[in-house]
Amino acid sequence: MRLTLSRSVVRSWALTDLAALVEHANNHRIWINLRDRFPHPYTRHDGLTFLRAMRKASPETVFAIDVAGEAVGGIGFMLQHDVERVSAEIGYWLGERFWNRGIATEALVAVTSYAIAQHGLTRVFALPFAFNVASCRVLDKAGYVLEARLHRSAIKDGTIVDQLQYAFVAPTR
Ligand SMILES: CC(C)(COP(=O)(O)OP(=O)(O)OC[C@H]1O[C@@H](n2cnc3c(N)ncnc32)[C@H](O)[C@@H]1OP(=O)(O)O)[C@@H](O)C(=O)NCCC(=O)NCCS
Repeated sequence: MRLTLSRSVVRSWALTDLAALVEHANNHRIWINLRDRFPHPYTRHDGLTFLRAMRKASPETVFAIDVAGEAVGGIGFMLQHDVERVSAEIGYWLGERFWNRGIATEALVAVTSYAIAQHGLTRVFALPFAFNVASCRVLDKAGYVLEARLHRSAIKDGTIVDQLQYAFVAPTR
């Protein structure tokens, strides 16, 4: 998969991304905003395990955000199941050096459209922690709508936190 955008290329992960992945992912300021399954510290072993899993993934739903030929972040969606199989949850992260250049917003718009078109979805949603102002702004700019505050719904780094539910609903055809 390859989506060529103006600020990045969203593409399939490759084993050759290992060094860049570990360099950019090993950051507490990224980890604090993500689910705990994103490791911290992020080791070479973590990166290799992830990249090997990516090679086997079918359908492919998790991609690298590539800037100037280097994988500097990730974006992916989790297809839901059973009666919610028309929905997917989306998530993303970007290496800190690349923040505040519009890269995540552009990637989010593109991957939302891709997910909807490729999988016949009606809805893509995200659940940022309420303290994650940057991610909420990204969702806002990408056309997602704030639907709910999930009070005390998660625990991160030992603290109970609220999550915000944002959704992009596909236009009906
Ligand atoms: C969230 C993240 C992906 C954003 O990536 P990005 O490429 O910097 O996003 P963009 O540049 O497209 O937009 C960021 C917006 O947030 C704003 N922003 C950033 N930090 C902010 C802060 N502390 N307070 C208010 N606004 C902030 C920026 O000004 C920008 O908005 P603007 O265009 O109106 O100026 C990146 O910060 C990141 O990887 N964070 C850690 C992981 C994470 O939070 N992932 C999402 C989990 S839900």
